[in-house]
Amino acid sequence: MAITKEELIQGLNEDLANEYQAIIMYLTYAASVKGMEREQLQNFFEKEIADELNHAKMLANKITALGGTPVTQPAPVPPAANAKEMLQNVLKAETETIQRYVKRMKQAEEFGDYGLANELHEMISEETHHKEETEKILGV
Ligand SMILES: [Fe+2]
Ligand SMILES: [Fe+2]
Repeated sequence: MAITKEELIQGLNEDLANEYQAIIMYLTYAASVKGMEREQLQNFFEKEIADELNHAKMLANKITALGGTPVTQPAPVPPAANAKEMLQNVLKAETETIQRYVKRMKQAEEFGDYGLANELHEMISEETHHKEETEKILGV
């Protein structure tokens, strides 16, 4: 059965809650990170915020264009005791976000909104870049 507009809006709201999570996560980790690599990691985390903010804007605008109401509550930010845990949490979040956007892109195509599918396509590239940079820092 084809995806309904309500199901697409619900999915986009899940994505939006997770973009808000990403913004808060990067901002909090940048402020909190300690140790010898503090300066580099602070810059790394802060650098991601602009991308995630743009993703959140796109999603909120699309949700209202579809007649939905954008959520205002972020998904919970996982706590981290040290820099390594922060990076592991970031890697997990970026990986899950890519999986959600691949699913959402297919739903957008099924719904016939190729503009949205294209936006999600670009966001997958940006989240993949975030993921790969995090993997390089972690050395995995
Ligand atoms: Fe994002
Ligand atoms: Fe990201």
